[in-house]
Amino acid sequence: MDSSPILVMTAILTIASSDSGFFWHITDFHYDFTYHDRQLSCNPNAKPTHPGQFGDFWCDSPWKLVNSSVHAMAKLKQNADFILWTGDTVLHASDSDLNYDVNAAIHKNTTDLIKSVLPGVHVYASFGNHDYWPNNQFPPANNRLYNDTLERWGPWINDSSQDNYFRKGAYYTVKTPQGLRIISLNTNLYYTSDKETVNVSDPADQLQWLNATLVNAKTSNEKVLITAHISPGVHTPSSILWMHEKFHTPLVDILQTHADIIVGMFFGHDHSDGFKVLPDKTGTSMAPIFIAPSVTPWRYVIPNEIGPAHNPGIRLVEYDRTTGRPLDITQYYLDLKTANQNATDNWEVEYEAKKDYEIPDLTAATLAKLASKIKDPGSKEFKNYWRFYTVSAPTEMLEACVNDCHSAVYCGLTFFDMDSFRACQNKMISGSSQLFSVGRMMTTFVTSGLLIAIAL
Ligand SMILES: *[C@@H]1O[C@H](CO)[C@@H](O)[C@H](O)[C@H]1NC(C)=O
Ligand SMILES: *[C@@H]1O[C@H](CO)[C@@H](O)[C@H](O)[C@H]1NC(C)=O
Ligand SMILES: *[C@@H]1O[C@H](CO)[C@@H](O)[C@H](O)[C@H]1NC(C)=O
Ligand SMILES: *[C@@H]1O[C@H](CO)[C@@H](O)[C@H](O)[C@H]1NC(C)=O
Ligand SMILES: *[C@@H]1O[C@H](CO)[C@@H](O)[C@H](O)[C@H]1NC(C)=O
Ligand SMILES: *[C@@H]1O[C@H](CO)[C@@H](O)[C@H](O)[C@H]1NC(C)=O
Ligand SMILES: *[C@@H]1O[C@H](CO)[C@@H](O)[C@H](O)[C@H]1NC(C)=O
Ligand SMILES: [Zn+2]
Ligand SMILES: [Zn+2]
Repeated sequence: MDSSPILVMTAILTIASSDSGFFWHITDFHYDFTYHDRQLSCNPNAKPTHPGQFGDFWCDSPWKLVNSSVHAMAKLKQNADFILWTGDTVLHASDSDLNYDVNAAIHKNTTDLIKSVLPGVHVYASFGNHDYWPNNQFPPANNRLYNDTLERWGPWINDSSQDNYFRKGAYYTVKTPQGLRIISLNTNLYYTSDKETVNVSDPADQLQWLNATLVNAKTSNEKVLITAHISPGVHTPSSILWMHEKFHTPLVDILQTHADIIVGMFFGHDHSDGFKVLPDKTGTSMAPIFIAPSVTPWRYVIPNEIGPAHNPGIRLVEYDRTTGRPLDITQYYLDLKTANQNATDNWEVEYEAKKDYEIPDLTAATLAKLASKIKDPGSKEFKNYWRFYTVSAPTEMLEACVNDCHSAVYCGLTFFDMDSFRACQNKMISGSSQLFSVGRMMTTFVTSGLLIAIAL
Protein backbone atom coordinates (compact mmCIF):
# COMPACT_ATOMS: atom_id res chain seq x y z
CA MET A 1 0.00 0.00 0.00
CA ASP A 2 1.37 3.35 -1.00
CA SER A 3 -0.15 6.30 0.82
CA SER A 4 1.23 9.77 0.38
CA PRO A 5 1.60 12.02 3.45
CA ILE A 6 -1.05 14.36 2.04
CA LEU A 7 -3.61 11.58 1.78
CA VAL A 8 -2.86 10.47 5.31
CA MET A 9 -3.23 14.05 6.57
CA THR A 10 -6.52 14.46 4.78
CA ALA A 11 -7.81 11.22 6.21
CA ILE A 12 -6.85 12.26 9.74
CA LEU A 13 -8.45 15.68 9.35
CA THR A 14 -11.64 14.16 7.97
CA ILE A 15 -11.92 11.79 10.90
CA ALA A 16 -11.15 14.51 13.41
CA SER A 17 -13.53 17.12 12.01
CA SER A 18 -16.71 15.16 12.58
CA ASP A 19 -17.78 11.94 14.20
CA SER A 20 -19.89 10.64 11.36
CA GLY A 21 -21.83 7.40 11.42
CA PHE A 22 -24.41 5.66 9.28
CA PHE A 23 -27.93 4.37 9.68
CA TRP A 24 -30.26 2.58 7.32
CA HIS A 25 -33.81 3.60 6.56
CA ILE A 26 -35.98 0.79 5.20
CA THR A 27 -39.73 0.91 4.70
CA ASP A 28 -42.88 -0.62 3.22
CA PHE A 29 -41.86 -4.24 2.58
CA HIS A 30 -45.53 -5.19 2.00
CA TYR A 31 -44.59 -8.87 1.89
CA ASP A 32 -47.01 -10.88 -0.30
CA PHE A 33 -46.81 -14.49 0.88
CA THR A 34 -49.21 -15.39 -1.98
CA TYR A 35 -47.05 -13.85 -4.73
CA HIS A 36 -46.45 -17.19 -6.48
CA ASP A 37 -50.02 -18.48 -6.32
CA ARG A 38 -53.04 -16.36 -5.40
CA GLN A 39 -51.24 -13.03 -6.00
CA LEU A 40 -53.52 -11.28 -3.51
CA SER A 41 -51.69 -7.96 -3.76
CA CYS A 42 -51.40 -7.82 -7.55
CA ASN A 43 -53.48 -5.43 -9.52
CA PRO A 44 -56.50 -7.45 -10.73
CA ASN A 45 -56.06 -6.10 -14.26
CA ALA A 46 -52.33 -6.78 -14.38
CA LYS A 47 -51.68 -10.08 -12.61
CA PRO A 48 -48.42 -11.36 -14.09
CA THR A 49 -48.58 -14.81 -15.66
CA HIS A 50 -44.83 -15.26 -15.23
CA PRO A 51 -44.10 -13.28 -12.06
CA GLY A 52 -40.44 -12.26 -11.85
CA GLN A 53 -38.57 -13.88 -8.98
CA PHE A 54 -37.67 -10.50 -7.40
CA GLY A 55 -41.09 -8.94 -7.88
CA ASP A 56 -43.41 -7.19 -10.28
CA PHE A 57 -44.39 -3.54 -10.70
CA TRP A 58 -48.06 -4.48 -10.15
CA CYS A 59 -47.54 -6.61 -7.03
CA ASP A 60 -46.17 -6.47 -3.51
CA SER A 61 -42.83 -8.03 -2.56
CA PRO A 62 -42.20 -11.77 -2.80
CA TRP A 63 -40.13 -13.14 0.11
CA LYS A 64 -37.12 -13.23 -2.18
CA LEU A 65 -37.23 -9.42 -2.50
CA VAL A 66 -37.74 -8.87 1.25
CA ASN A 67 -34.81 -11.21 1.93
CA SER A 68 -32.68 -9.58 -0.75
CA SER A 69 -33.25 -6.06 0.62
CA VAL A 70 -32.29 -7.07 4.16
CA HIS A 71 -29.19 -8.95 3.00
CA ALA A 72 -28.24 -5.92 0.89
CA MET A 73 -28.16 -3.73 4.03
CA ALA A 74 -25.78 -6.18 5.69
CA LYS A 75 -23.61 -6.45 2.60
CA LEU A 76 -23.42 -2.72 1.85
CA LYS A 77 -22.93 -1.48 5.45
CA GLN A 78 -22.73 -4.21 8.05
CA ASN A 79 -21.99 -2.04 11.07
CA ALA A 80 -24.57 0.73 10.75
CA ASP A 81 -25.32 2.40 14.08
CA PHE A 82 -29.01 1.58 13.82
CA ILE A 83 -31.86 1.02 11.37
CA LEU A 84 -35.07 3.02 11.03
CA TRP A 85 -37.87 0.73 9.87
CA THR A 86 -41.01 2.69 9.12
CA GLY A 87 -43.64 -0.01 8.76
CA ASP A 88 -46.19 -1.42 6.31
CA THR A 89 -44.84 -4.95 6.36
CA VAL A 90 -48.22 -6.51 5.49
CA LEU A 91 -49.35 -6.83 1.86
CA HIS A 92 -52.14 -4.89 0.16
CA ALA A 93 -55.05 -7.30 0.43
CA SER A 94 -58.62 -7.15 1.62
CA ASP A 95 -59.33 -7.78 5.29
CA SER A 96 -61.24 -10.95 4.41
CA ASP A 97 -58.06 -12.52 2.99
CA LEU A 98 -56.05 -11.69 6.11
CA ASN A 99 -56.46 -12.06 9.86
CA TYR A 100 -54.55 -11.41 13.06
CA ASP A 101 -52.50 -14.60 12.80
CA VAL A 102 -51.48 -14.13 9.17
CA ASN A 103 -50.30 -10.60 9.91
CA ALA A 104 -48.50 -11.84 13.04
CA ALA A 105 -46.60 -14.42 10.96
CA ILE A 106 -45.58 -11.68 8.50
CA HIS A 107 -44.38 -9.45 11.36
CA LYS A 108 -42.56 -12.31 13.07
CA ASN A 109 -40.80 -13.65 9.98
CA THR A 110 -39.64 -10.20 8.88
CA THR A 111 -38.42 -9.21 12.36
CA ASP A 112 -36.60 -12.56 12.68
CA LEU A 113 -34.98 -12.06 9.27
CA ILE A 114 -33.60 -8.64 10.24
CA LYS A 115 -32.40 -9.97 13.60
CA SER A 116 -30.60 -12.89 12.00
CA VAL A 117 -29.03 -10.98 9.10
CA LEU A 118 -28.04 -7.89 11.13
CA PRO A 119 -27.45 -9.26 14.63
CA GLY A 120 -26.70 -6.65 17.29
CA VAL A 121 -27.94 -3.70 15.21
CA HIS A 122 -30.69 -1.80 16.98
CA VAL A 123 -33.77 -1.29 14.86
CA TYR A 124 -36.11 1.58 15.73
CA ALA A 125 -39.31 0.40 14.14
CA SER A 126 -42.73 1.95 13.79
CA PHE A 127 -46.02 0.53 12.54
CA GLY A 128 -47.55 1.28 9.14
CA ASN A 129 -51.28 1.53 8.49
CA HIS A 130 -51.33 -1.97 6.90
CA ASP A 131 -49.79 -3.61 9.93
CA TYR A 132 -53.04 -3.66 11.89
CA TRP A 133 -55.89 -6.02 11.21
CA PRO A 134 -58.43 -4.87 10.07
CA ASN A 135 -56.19 -2.69 7.99
CA ASN A 136 -55.83 1.00 9.01
CA GLN A 137 -57.98 0.53 12.15
CA PHE A 138 -55.40 1.25 14.86
CA PRO A 139 -57.30 1.70 18.11
CA PRO A 140 -56.31 4.54 20.45
CA ALA A 141 -55.66 2.08 23.28
CA ASN A 142 -53.83 -1.07 24.33
CA ASN A 143 -54.41 -4.16 22.20
CA ARG A 144 -52.92 -7.54 21.37
CA LEU A 145 -50.80 -6.28 18.45
CA TYR A 146 -48.99 -3.71 20.63
CA ASN A 147 -48.29 -6.30 23.33
CA ASP A 148 -47.11 -8.99 20.90
CA THR A 149 -44.95 -6.55 18.97
CA LEU A 150 -43.32 -5.27 22.15
CA GLU A 151 -42.07 -8.84 22.66
CA ARG A 152 -40.44 -8.72 19.21
CA TRP A 153 -39.16 -5.13 19.19
CA GLY A 154 -38.52 -4.69 22.94
CA PRO A 155 -34.91 -6.00 22.75
CA TRP A 156 -34.15 -3.34 20.13
CA ILE A 157 -35.69 -0.55 22.24
CA ASN A 158 -33.90 -2.02 25.28
CA ASP A 159 -35.57 0.29 27.81
CA SER A 160 -38.45 -1.01 29.87
CA SER A 161 -39.40 2.56 30.86
CA GLN A 162 -40.93 2.79 27.36
CA ASP A 163 -43.11 -0.31 27.69
CA ASN A 164 -46.18 1.56 28.91
CA TYR A 165 -46.11 3.98 25.97
CA PHE A 166 -45.66 1.15 23.52
CA ARG A 167 -48.53 -0.86 25.04
CA LYS A 168 -50.75 2.22 25.02
CA GLY A 169 -50.07 3.62 21.54
CA ALA A 170 -46.97 2.03 19.96
CA TYR A 171 -44.77 5.10 20.44
CA TYR A 172 -41.51 5.42 22.36
CA THR A 173 -38.23 7.28 22.65
CA VAL A 174 -34.62 6.09 22.94
CA LYS A 175 -31.30 7.89 23.27
CA THR A 176 -28.27 6.83 21.23
CA PRO A 177 -24.93 6.34 23.03
CA GLN A 178 -23.82 9.74 21.63
CA GLY A 179 -26.93 11.44 23.03
CA LEU A 180 -29.18 11.82 19.99
CA ARG A 181 -32.83 11.45 20.99
CA ILE A 182 -34.89 9.28 18.66
CA ILE A 183 -38.68 9.55 18.84
CA SER A 184 -40.74 6.86 17.11
CA LEU A 185 -44.40 7.78 16.58
CA ASN A 186 -47.52 5.91 15.55
CA THR A 187 -48.96 8.45 13.09
CA ASN A 188 -51.39 5.83 11.73
CA LEU A 189 -53.66 6.94 14.59
CA TYR A 190 -54.22 10.17 12.60
CA TYR A 191 -54.80 8.53 9.20
CA THR A 192 -58.05 9.53 7.49
CA SER A 193 -58.90 5.83 7.00
CA ASP A 194 -58.75 5.07 10.74
CA LYS A 195 -62.35 4.95 12.02
CA GLU A 196 -61.30 4.03 15.57
CA THR A 197 -59.75 7.37 16.44
CA VAL A 198 -62.04 9.90 14.72
CA ASN A 199 -63.93 10.86 17.89
CA VAL A 200 -60.88 11.04 20.14
CA SER A 201 -59.16 14.36 20.75
CA ASP A 202 -55.64 12.99 21.35
CA PRO A 203 -55.47 9.27 20.43
CA ALA A 204 -53.41 7.31 22.97
CA ASP A 205 -52.30 10.71 24.40
CA GLN A 206 -49.51 10.67 21.86
CA LEU A 207 -49.60 14.41 21.04
CA GLN A 208 -49.37 15.37 24.69
CA TRP A 209 -46.49 12.91 25.15
CA LEU A 210 -44.68 14.21 22.05
CA ASN A 211 -45.01 17.77 23.26
CA ALA A 212 -43.68 16.88 26.72
CA THR A 213 -40.86 14.76 25.27
CA LEU A 214 -39.73 17.62 23.04
CA VAL A 215 -39.90 20.12 25.91
CA ASN A 216 -37.71 17.79 28.01
CA ALA A 217 -35.29 17.32 25.12
CA LYS A 218 -34.90 21.08 24.79
CA THR A 219 -34.28 21.47 28.51
CA SER A 220 -31.65 18.73 28.35
CA ASN A 221 -29.96 20.27 25.28
CA GLU A 222 -30.71 17.22 23.16
CA LYS A 223 -31.11 17.03 19.40
CA VAL A 224 -34.05 15.00 18.15
CA LEU A 225 -34.66 12.64 15.24
CA ILE A 226 -38.29 11.74 14.56
CA THR A 227 -39.41 8.60 12.75
CA ALA A 228 -42.86 7.28 11.81
CA HIS A 229 -44.81 5.79 8.93
CA ILE A 230 -47.10 8.58 7.68
CA SER A 231 -45.61 12.03 7.27
CA PRO A 232 -47.29 15.35 7.95
CA GLY A 233 -47.88 17.70 5.02
CA VAL A 234 -49.54 17.33 1.64
CA HIS A 235 -48.87 14.20 -0.40
CA THR A 236 -48.05 15.10 -4.00
CA PRO A 237 -48.86 15.03 -6.81
CA SER A 238 -52.16 13.60 -5.43
CA SER A 239 -52.61 16.78 -3.32
CA ILE A 240 -54.16 15.26 -0.24
CA LEU A 241 -53.45 15.32 3.46
CA TRP A 242 -52.99 11.79 4.80
CA MET A 243 -54.13 12.87 8.25
CA HIS A 244 -57.36 14.27 9.66
CA GLU A 245 -56.92 18.01 9.98
CA LYS A 246 -57.91 17.89 13.64
CA PHE A 247 -54.79 15.79 14.34
CA HIS A 248 -52.57 17.20 11.62
CA THR A 249 -52.87 20.79 12.84
CA PRO A 250 -51.70 20.19 16.44
CA LEU A 251 -49.03 17.71 15.27
CA VAL A 252 -47.54 20.25 12.87
CA ASP A 253 -47.89 22.91 15.56
CA ILE A 254 -45.82 20.88 18.04
CA LEU A 255 -43.17 20.05 15.42
CA GLN A 256 -42.92 23.70 14.35
CA THR A 257 -42.57 24.87 17.94
CA HIS A 258 -39.57 22.57 18.34
CA ALA A 259 -38.13 22.81 14.82
CA ASP A 260 -34.89 24.25 16.26
CA ILE A 261 -33.96 20.96 17.96
CA ILE A 262 -35.35 18.54 15.34
CA VAL A 263 -32.42 17.54 13.10
CA GLY A 264 -34.43 15.30 10.81
CA MET A 265 -37.74 13.48 10.37
CA PHE A 266 -37.88 10.15 8.52
CA PHE A 267 -41.05 8.65 7.07
CA GLY A 268 -42.33 6.00 4.63
CA HIS A 269 -45.89 5.33 3.40
CA ASP A 270 -45.63 7.36 0.17
CA HIS A 271 -43.67 4.54 -1.56
CA SER A 272 -41.88 7.28 -3.48
CA ASP A 273 -38.75 9.27 -2.66
CA GLY A 274 -39.20 12.82 -1.41
CA PHE A 275 -38.25 15.55 1.01
CA LYS A 276 -40.02 18.48 2.63
CA VAL A 277 -38.93 21.43 4.74
CA LEU A 278 -40.99 22.37 7.79
CA PRO A 279 -40.55 26.05 8.69
CA ASP A 280 -41.04 27.06 12.31
CA LYS A 281 -43.56 29.75 13.19
CA THR A 282 -41.15 32.65 13.34
CA GLY A 283 -39.22 31.81 10.19
CA THR A 284 -35.93 31.53 12.06
CA SER A 285 -35.40 27.79 11.80
CA MET A 286 -36.67 24.83 9.85
CA ALA A 287 -36.60 21.06 10.12
CA PRO A 288 -35.95 18.69 7.20
CA ILE A 289 -38.29 15.80 6.36
CA PHE A 290 -37.02 12.80 4.40
CA ILE A 291 -39.40 10.30 2.81
CA ALA A 292 -37.79 7.02 1.79
CA PRO A 293 -39.06 4.95 -1.14
CA SER A 294 -40.55 1.50 -0.48
CA VAL A 295 -39.11 -1.96 -0.90
CA THR A 296 -42.36 -2.99 -2.59
CA PRO A 297 -42.62 -2.03 -6.28
CA TRP A 298 -46.47 -2.19 -6.06
CA ARG A 299 -48.22 0.71 -7.79
CA TYR A 300 -51.78 1.79 -7.25
CA VAL A 301 -54.55 2.15 -9.82
CA ILE A 302 -57.71 4.09 -9.19
CA PRO A 303 -60.19 5.59 -11.64
CA ASN A 304 -58.39 8.28 -13.67
CA GLU A 305 -55.01 7.73 -12.14
CA ILE A 306 -52.26 5.15 -12.18
CA GLY A 307 -49.55 5.61 -9.59
CA PRO A 308 -46.09 6.05 -11.10
CA ALA A 309 -44.01 2.88 -11.44
CA HIS A 310 -41.11 2.67 -8.98
CA ASN A 311 -38.21 0.32 -8.34
CA PRO A 312 -37.47 -1.12 -4.88
CA GLY A 313 -35.23 1.08 -2.72
CA ILE A 314 -33.20 1.01 0.50
CA ARG A 315 -31.53 4.09 1.97
CA LEU A 316 -28.26 4.68 3.81
CA VAL A 317 -28.00 7.94 5.77
CA GLU A 318 -24.68 9.38 6.91
CA TYR A 319 -25.12 11.55 9.99
CA ASP A 320 -23.09 13.43 12.53
CA ARG A 321 -23.23 11.32 15.68
CA THR A 322 -22.74 14.31 17.95
CA THR A 323 -25.15 16.82 16.47
CA GLY A 324 -27.42 14.20 14.94
CA ARG A 325 -27.52 16.11 11.65
CA PRO A 326 -28.00 14.06 8.47
CA LEU A 327 -24.92 14.64 6.27
CA ASP A 328 -25.70 12.68 3.11
CA ILE A 329 -28.05 10.09 1.67
CA THR A 330 -26.96 7.18 -0.49
CA GLN A 331 -30.07 5.82 -2.14
CA TYR A 332 -29.72 2.21 -3.31
CA TYR A 333 -32.17 0.57 -5.66
CA LEU A 334 -32.83 -2.72 -7.37
CA ASP A 335 -33.39 -2.37 -11.10
CA LEU A 336 -36.31 -4.79 -11.05
CA LYS A 337 -36.43 -5.55 -14.76
CA THR A 338 -32.72 -6.40 -14.91
CA ALA A 339 -32.83 -8.34 -11.66
CA ASN A 340 -35.60 -10.57 -12.98
CA GLN A 341 -34.00 -10.94 -16.41
CA ASN A 342 -30.51 -11.70 -15.11
CA ALA A 343 -31.62 -13.58 -11.97
CA THR A 344 -29.23 -11.42 -9.93
CA ASP A 345 -30.08 -9.04 -7.13
CA ASN A 346 -27.54 -6.31 -7.64
CA TRP A 347 -28.51 -3.34 -5.40
CA GLU A 348 -26.85 -0.33 -6.99
CA VAL A 349 -26.37 3.28 -5.93
CA GLU A 350 -29.22 5.25 -7.48
CA TYR A 351 -27.92 8.61 -6.29
CA GLU A 352 -25.91 10.37 -3.63
CA ALA A 353 -27.83 13.40 -2.43
CA LYS A 354 -24.93 15.86 -2.06
CA LYS A 355 -23.22 14.89 -5.27
CA ASP A 356 -26.26 14.50 -7.50
CA TYR A 357 -28.21 17.51 -6.26
CA GLU A 358 -24.96 19.51 -6.02
CA ILE A 359 -25.67 20.67 -2.47
CA PRO A 360 -23.20 21.15 0.41
CA ASP A 361 -25.27 19.41 3.10
CA LEU A 362 -28.77 18.22 3.99
CA THR A 363 -29.78 21.00 6.34
CA ALA A 364 -33.29 22.43 6.04
CA ALA A 365 -31.82 25.73 4.79
CA THR A 366 -30.03 23.92 1.96
CA LEU A 367 -33.13 21.89 1.10
CA ALA A 368 -35.21 25.09 1.05
CA LYS A 369 -32.80 26.50 -1.55
CA LEU A 370 -33.05 23.27 -3.52
CA ALA A 371 -36.85 23.57 -3.36
CA SER A 372 -36.66 27.05 -4.88
CA LYS A 373 -34.76 25.59 -7.85
CA ILE A 374 -37.35 22.82 -8.22
CA LYS A 375 -39.89 25.60 -8.78
CA ASP A 376 -38.58 25.76 -12.35
CA PRO A 377 -40.06 22.71 -14.14
CA GLY A 378 -37.19 22.79 -16.65
CA SER A 379 -34.46 22.73 -14.00
CA LYS A 380 -32.14 19.77 -13.65
CA GLU A 381 -33.03 19.80 -9.95
CA PHE A 382 -36.69 19.07 -10.73
CA LYS A 383 -35.79 16.46 -13.35
CA ASN A 384 -33.66 14.72 -10.74
CA TYR A 385 -36.36 15.03 -8.10
CA TRP A 386 -38.93 13.36 -10.34
CA ARG A 387 -36.55 10.60 -11.45
CA PHE A 388 -35.68 9.86 -7.83
CA TYR A 389 -39.38 10.08 -6.86
CA THR A 390 -39.92 7.03 -9.09
CA VAL A 391 -36.69 5.34 -7.97
CA SER A 392 -35.43 5.50 -11.56
CA ALA A 393 -38.25 3.34 -12.92
CA PRO A 394 -38.01 2.43 -16.61
CA THR A 395 -38.77 5.58 -18.60
CA GLU A 396 -41.24 3.76 -20.85
CA MET A 397 -43.40 3.14 -17.77
CA LEU A 398 -43.47 6.79 -16.70
CA GLU A 399 -45.57 9.82 -17.47
CA ALA A 400 -43.96 13.23 -17.41
CA CYS A 401 -44.76 15.36 -14.35
CA VAL A 402 -45.80 18.69 -15.85
CA ASN A 403 -48.15 21.60 -15.09
CA ASP A 404 -50.45 20.70 -12.14
CA CYS A 405 -48.26 17.74 -11.25
CA HIS A 406 -45.14 19.92 -11.12
CA SER A 407 -46.79 22.76 -9.19
CA ALA A 408 -48.23 20.28 -6.66
CA VAL A 409 -44.81 18.69 -6.14
CA TYR A 410 -43.15 22.07 -5.71
CA CYS A 411 -45.78 23.52 -3.36
CA GLY A 412 -45.82 20.33 -1.25
CA LEU A 413 -42.14 20.79 -0.42
CA THR A 414 -42.74 23.71 1.94
CA PHE A 415 -46.52 24.19 2.46
CA PHE A 416 -48.06 21.95 5.09
CA ASP A 417 -51.72 22.94 5.28
CA MET A 418 -54.24 22.71 2.45
CA ASP A 419 -55.00 26.45 2.35
CA SER A 420 -51.43 27.63 1.89
CA PHE A 421 -50.71 24.69 -0.44
CA ARG A 422 -53.65 25.65 -2.67
CA ALA A 423 -52.67 29.33 -2.59
CA CYS A 424 -49.14 28.39 -3.69
CA GLN A 425 -50.51 26.26 -6.53
CA ASN A 426 -52.91 28.97 -7.71
CA LYS A 427 -50.07 31.44 -7.78
CA MET A 428 -47.95 29.05 -9.83
CA ILE A 429 -50.77 28.40 -12.28
CA SER A 430 -51.60 32.09 -12.81
CA GLY A 431 -47.89 32.86 -13.10
CA SER A 432 -47.21 30.11 -15.61
CA SER A 433 -50.24 30.85 -17.81
CA GLN A 434 -48.48 34.06 -18.83
CA LEU A 435 -45.51 32.02 -19.98
CA PHE A 436 -47.46 29.59 -22.12
CA SER A 437 -48.58 30.73 -25.53
CA VAL A 438 -52.33 30.74 -26.13
CA GLY A 439 -53.59 27.37 -27.29
CA ARG A 440 -50.82 25.37 -25.68
CA MET A 441 -52.36 22.23 -24.27
CA MET A 442 -52.54 22.13 -20.50
CA THR A 443 -52.81 18.60 -19.24
CA THR A 444 -54.16 17.91 -15.83
CA PHE A 445 -52.62 15.02 -14.02
CA VAL A 446 -54.53 14.83 -10.81
CA THR A 447 -58.15 14.39 -9.93
CA SER A 448 -57.77 14.90 -6.23
CA GLY A 449 -61.32 14.11 -5.15
CA LEU A 450 -60.92 10.45 -6.01
CA LEU A 451 -57.67 9.93 -4.25
CA ILE A 452 -59.09 9.51 -0.80
CA ALA A 453 -59.49 5.86 -1.81
CA ILE A 454 -55.78 5.05 -2.03
CA ALA A 455 -54.33 3.40 1.03
CA LEU A 456 -50.58 3.14 0.65
C1 LIG B 1 -31.59 -14.63 1.01
O1 LIG B 1 -30.50 -13.90 0.46
C2 LIG B 1 -29.24 -14.51 0.67
C3 LIG B 1 -28.15 -13.55 0.19
O2 LIG B 1 -28.36 -13.22 -1.13
C4 LIG B 1 -29.21 -15.85 -0.07
O3 LIG B 1 -27.99 -16.50 0.19
C5 LIG B 1 -30.37 -16.70 0.41
O4 LIG B 1 -30.43 -17.87 -0.38
C6 LIG B 1 -31.69 -15.96 0.27
N1 LIG B 1 -32.78 -16.73 0.83
C7 LIG B 1 -33.96 -16.79 0.23
C8 LIG B 1 -34.99 -17.62 0.92
O5 LIG B 1 -34.22 -16.22 -0.80
C1 LIG C 1 -43.02 -17.73 8.34
O1 LIG C 1 -41.94 -18.61 8.50
C2 LIG C 1 -42.35 -19.96 8.80
C3 LIG C 1 -41.11 -20.75 9.15
O2 LIG C 1 -40.15 -20.63 8.14
C4 LIG C 1 -43.11 -20.51 7.60
O3 LIG C 1 -43.56 -21.82 7.88
C5 LIG C 1 -44.31 -19.63 7.33
O4 LIG C 1 -44.96 -20.05 6.15
C6 LIG C 1 -43.88 -18.18 7.16
N1 LIG C 1 -45.07 -17.34 7.08
C7 LIG C 1 -45.28 -16.48 6.11
C8 LIG C 1 -46.53 -15.68 6.15
O5 LIG C 1 -44.49 -16.34 5.19
C1 LIG D 1 -51.03 -6.20 27.44
O1 LIG D 1 -50.07 -6.40 28.46
C2 LIG D 1 -50.37 -5.74 29.67
C3 LIG D 1 -49.19 -5.91 30.63
O2 LIG D 1 -48.87 -7.24 30.74
C4 LIG D 1 -51.68 -6.30 30.24
O3 LIG D 1 -52.02 -5.60 31.42
C5 LIG D 1 -52.77 -6.10 29.21
O4 LIG D 1 -53.97 -6.70 29.66
C6 LIG D 1 -52.37 -6.73 27.89
N1 LIG D 1 -53.36 -6.40 26.88
C7 LIG D 1 -53.95 -7.31 26.11
C8 LIG D 1 -54.94 -6.81 25.09
O5 LIG D 1 -53.70 -8.50 26.18
C1 LIG E 1 -29.30 -2.43 26.95
O1 LIG E 1 -29.24 -1.42 27.92
C2 LIG E 1 -28.35 -1.72 28.99
C3 LIG E 1 -28.52 -0.64 30.08
O2 LIG E 1 -28.54 0.64 29.51
C4 LIG E 1 -26.93 -1.80 28.47
O3 LIG E 1 -26.04 -2.10 29.49
C5 LIG E 1 -26.90 -2.90 27.40
O4 LIG E 1 -25.62 -2.95 26.79
C6 LIG E 1 -27.94 -2.67 26.33
N1 LIG E 1 -28.04 -3.81 25.46
C7 LIG E 1 -27.89 -3.70 24.14
C8 LIG E 1 -28.01 -4.99 23.40
O5 LIG E 1 -27.67 -2.65 23.59
C1 LIG F 1 -67.80 8.46 16.22
O1 LIG F 1 -68.93 9.32 16.27
C2 LIG F 1 -69.90 9.06 15.26
C3 LIG F 1 -70.95 10.15 15.34
O2 LIG F 1 -71.38 10.30 16.67
C4 LIG F 1 -70.45 7.65 15.47
O3 LIG F 1 -71.38 7.36 14.44
C5 LIG F 1 -69.31 6.65 15.42
O4 LIG F 1 -69.79 5.35 15.70
C6 LIG F 1 -68.23 7.00 16.41
N1 LIG F 1 -67.09 6.10 16.22
C7 LIG F 1 -66.48 5.48 17.22
C8 LIG F 1 -65.36 4.54 16.87
O5 LIG F 1 -66.77 5.64 18.39
C1 LIG G 1 -47.18 21.87 24.74
O1 LIG G 1 -46.84 22.01 26.10
C2 LIG G 1 -46.76 23.36 26.52
C3 LIG G 1 -46.30 23.45 27.97
O2 LIG G 1 -45.64 22.30 28.38
C4 LIG G 1 -48.15 24.00 26.38
O3 LIG G 1 -48.07 25.35 26.73
C5 LIG G 1 -48.62 23.87 24.93
O4 LIG G 1 -49.94 24.33 24.82
C6 LIG G 1 -48.56 22.44 24.46
N1 LIG G 1 -48.86 22.42 23.05
C7 LIG G 1 -49.73 21.56 22.51
C8 LIG G 1 -49.99 21.72 21.06
O5 LIG G 1 -50.27 20.70 23.16
C1 LIG H 1 -27.44 -8.38 -16.99
O1 LIG H 1 -27.04 -9.28 -18.01
C2 LIG H 1 -26.55 -8.62 -19.17
C3 LIG H 1 -26.34 -9.68 -20.23
O2 LIG H 1 -25.74 -10.81 -19.67
C4 LIG H 1 -25.28 -7.89 -18.80
O3 LIG H 1 -24.78 -7.20 -19.90
C5 LIG H 1 -25.59 -6.88 -17.70
O4 LIG H 1 -24.39 -6.25 -17.24
C6 LIG H 1 -26.27 -7.54 -16.53
N1 LIG H 1 -26.71 -6.51 -15.61
C7 LIG H 1 -26.55 -6.57 -14.30
C8 LIG H 1 -27.03 -5.38 -13.51
O5 LIG H 1 -26.09 -7.52 -13.73
ZN1 LIG I 1 -48.77 3.08 4.51
ZN1 LIG J 1 -47.12 1.19 2.21
